[in-house]
Amino acid sequence: MGGALVAAYGSAAAVAGRYLFPARPAGKRWIYVAQVASLQRGHALPWRTPSGERVSIARVGDGQSTDDFIALSSTCPHLGCQVRYESQHARFFCPCHNGVFSPEGKAVSGPPAEAGQDLVRYALRVDGPLLYIGLSERQIASAGQEA
Ligand code: FES
Repeated sequence: MGGALVAAYGSAAAVAGRYLFPARPAGKRWIYVAQVASLQRGHALPWRTPSGERVSIARVGDGQSTDDFIALSSTCPHLGCQVRYESQHARFFCPCHNGVFSPEGKAVSGPPAEAGQDLVRYALRVDGPLLYIGLSERQIASAGQEA
């Protein structure tokens, strides 16, 4: 009888554990970035992932949907310099070797264009008034390991 009682409590604990701590699907997690209303069209918000990767997040449309925003790595894929957004030219520019990228992150001139190296793009999601970025488990798990 004692064994049956232990088994019953064990089963109940397992069910409660799955309810309280559901399995998290592997892959992308969504991290809060900013209020949608705080981003103005034509300006880029500098942001860092938990692992320290630099990202530029910009509003490219006037609406309130995910398609009205873009998130691109700020690290040039050529040799790793930091690119900056130049709103007057509507482009990302890398000062190290004059690399130029379109507002969508496509390399259009300089060494990155010659090598076909576009800026890395991140997934975004608008949920009501809030903007989230999608990061892989690796990008989150490496946080604190680079300090
Ligand atoms: S590091 Fe950006 S163009 Fe060379």
